[in-house]
Amino acid sequence: MNSDTTHQRIHPSILSADFVNLQSELERIANADSVHVDVMDNHFVPNLTFGPPVVERIQAVSPVPLDMHLMISNADKWAPGYAEMGAASVTFHAEATDNPVALARRIREIGARAGIALKPGTDAAPYLELLPEFDMVLVMTVEPGFGGQKFMADMMPKVKQVAQARKRHGIDMWLQVDGGISVDTIGIAAEAGADTFVAGSAVYKGDPSARIAELRAAALAHTCAA
Ligand code: DX5
Ligand code: ZN
Repeated sequence: MNSDTTHQRIHPSILSADFVNLQSELERIANADSVHVDVMDNHFVPNLTFGPPVVERIQAVSPVPLDMHLMISNADKWAPGYAEMGAASVTFHAEATDNPVALARRIREIGARAGIALKPGTDAAPYLELLPEFDMVLVMTVEPGFGGQKFMADMMPKVKQVAQARKRHGIDMWLQVDGGISVDTIGIAAEAGADTFVAGSAVYKGDPSARIAELRAAALAHTCAA
């Protein structure tokens, strides 16, 4: 069940955009809630995208707020910098820091929302009591590293577990899913309790603004009243 049933957030991932034309690719998703920006370091994940200088330019021209997804080792060193650049939300991986609470506090202090991401093999249980320290939990529905992979429906028990803990805490925390989200899978995630949806290939494959509207409608149709 969602704590906020009035709005389902769609965050297109520019991992599926044309990197040579990022500004116009960003303009095509102006009806999104945020843009999901995947930073990969070829260490935490076996792929490489971009880092602070490119993200600084994205921040300068994007029509929507930045939702940073840091798939990088040594998150403590790099995550605060993205908050300082003005990103609305900075999500680091639980597997990439020894002290997620300290890092989340640092990000919040700077003024961004703090998110924690869990790879498919990472258990949510150790983090459930800490939820008030975070503004968002990202449950990965693919192995991080690449766009265009198949949605892992077997992650839904983890989404439900986080949604139940959120309810117990009575907090307004966002619950994000990332990987394989399309009009066919978004409803499954919404029913499990997700409210913030990343979609890369599903958005950029067609007309992005139409795809965003379709995804939002599909998510809303499957949202349970809390
Ligand atoms: C994968 C990235 C995703 C990716 C999703 O590691 O974190 O954000 O862009 O792409 P799709 O929606 O194509 O699965
Ligand atoms: Zn991502």
